[in-house]
Amino acid sequence: MEFSNRLKNLPTQFFATLVQKVALAVSEGRDVINLGQGNPDQPTPEHIVRALQDAATNPLAHKYSPFRGINELKQAAADFYKREYNVEIDPYTEVAIMFGTKIGLVELPLAMMNENELMLLPDPGYPDYLSGVGLASVRFETMPLLEENNFLPDYSKLTEIQKEDAKLMYLNYPNNPTGATATKDFFEETVALAKESDIAIVHDFAYGGIGFDGQKPISFLQVKGAKDVGIEMYTLSKTYNMAGWRVGFAVGNPKIIEAINIIQDHLFVSLFPAIQTAAAAALNESQECVNELVSLYEGRRNALVDACSRIGWNVKAPKGSFFAWLPVAKGYTSQEFANLLLEKADVAVAPGNGFGSFGEGYVRVGLLVDEVRLVEAINRIEKLNLF
Ligand SMILES: Cc1ncc(COP(=O)(O)O)c(C=O)c1O
Repeated sequence: MEFSNRLKNLPTQFFATLVQKVALAVSEGRDVINLGQGNPDQPTPEHIVRALQDAATNPLAHKYSPFRGINELKQAAADFYKREYNVEIDPYTEVAIMFGTKIGLVELPLAMMNENELMLLPDPGYPDYLSGVGLASVRFETMPLLEENNFLPDYSKLTEIQKEDAKLMYLNYPNNPTGATATKDFFEETVALAKESDIAIVHDFAYGGIGFDGQKPISFLQVKGAKDVGIEMYTLSKTYNMAGWRVGFAVGNPKIIEAINIIQDHLFVSLFPAIQTAAAAALNESQECVNELVSLYEGRRNALVDACSRIGWNVKAPKGSFFAWLPVAKGYTSQEFANLLLEKADVAVAPGNGFGSFGEGYVRVGLLVDEVRLVEAINRIEKLNLF
């Protein structure tokens, strides 16, 4: 049997190997502390689960959803943006409902680009951006995220050809994997570049709900002119621990939103209506559960950073997301360091080079186990005398 070039183009899942290695170690009876993955460990808040249970008893929820999702959820997304960010969104033309934002990020190049057109991606970055590149057979070039620039791309380093050719750019703050956050100045620069060079901007706001030290992460759409050039993707996966539910949305530029809706008209018949109703409840009701979640992650972050400092591991505290981006010990590559921690300390971390070549020299740690286990992981690493 012969399969499509499109299928052959798809990148291999870098982290599949890590998952296998961890599974093998666990099957050998080892007590692995797995800090390698990005799956929220807390349950979905009860009031959201109850909203799903109630909605699921309504026979109307068992029918096909309207193609583009239910109005109640679009209105909830618009109200959420007004309340949380003071951004005006038209629920009917400026919101697209989707099965989590991974699908939006992957389908967007298909909707907006022709083969071989150029996309700009952050390096390091969320590996699934490359799935969209592969499926749409577009080209991509990377924008390095360097510690000395607070992990923001330096647009002065883009070449004239890159600026001329690029059609689409992805950004993501709070950032996976570095934990960095964006500034208003940076987003203003982004809008200026997008206007000058005619580049559509997609801001992946997956960790928008998770900012530390009292700093609420800013939305790209809070910056003047942002809606003229781009959209923002918002997922319920992280803010409300709903990763398995598969629900998110895009808001912003109505032309891009329409392109997403058109492609989705052909791929899906939107989400299970009861999930949409419960997602609307998550957005509309009290956000106290989000404050509690942020405090929990912040406590874990502080415990991790303190434990690292105690053993002489010089790490910077992430400002948002639920990841910490830690430099590897001298003399090791990211992969070697991650292998060593798994083999000798039963601690799994994600090697930074899996997020792009500028991730070399770092490993990503998820704040997705409790403080006791996080500290235990660092205590085990201390015994290796690496720092
Ligand atoms: C940066 C980033 N963007 C998008 C997603 C996709 O989230 P979802 O498809 O659950 O909405 C993730 C999930 O890990 C992520 O880390």
